[in-house]
Amino acid sequence: MNKYEIRVMLLSGLLLSSFLFALLYNAFSRKIDVPACIPYNAAFEKGHFKQMDDSTYEVYVSAHMWAFDPAEIVVPVGSTVDFYLTSTDVVHGFNIDGKAVNLMAVPGGVNKVTVAFNSIGTYRIVCHEFCGVGHQNMMGKVIVKDKNDQ
Ligand code: CUA
Repeated sequence: MNKYEIRVMLLSGLLLSSFLFALLYNAFSRKIDVPACIPYNAAFEKGHFKQMDDSTYEVYVSAHMWAFDPAEIVVPVGSTVDFYLTSTDVVHGFNIDGKAVNLMAVPGGVNKVTVAFNSIGTYRIVCHEFCGVGHQNMMGKVIVKDKNDQ
């Protein structure tokens, strides 16, 4: 074997070993992991909403193939809702019919929008980013009811 071939092989082996060392060192000693697509924030482990006061709500929406969690929220008319949005897998869209809301649900990120619901009705939430074979069925809804119907 040519001495230059041996040098190149040794150099390549050394380089690969240093990469492997860096990977293992960061993973085990410094506890650095690759970013996870699952929600890193406990607030998103299960999509939910909570009432802050009489007319203010916070909704933690977790989008995934091919649904929003929670899929349906019910609020009284006149409510202001803060949506915090993330995705557990791929990029999804978040569009609320009749409202100026056009967000992307991005894995590893949280997007926020505040929406006032001053008219009774059902507002569809649709995913408007192509996210796979079930994309066209990915919907949710906000039901705005009369205060006395709650
Ligand atoms: Cu989710 Cu399209």
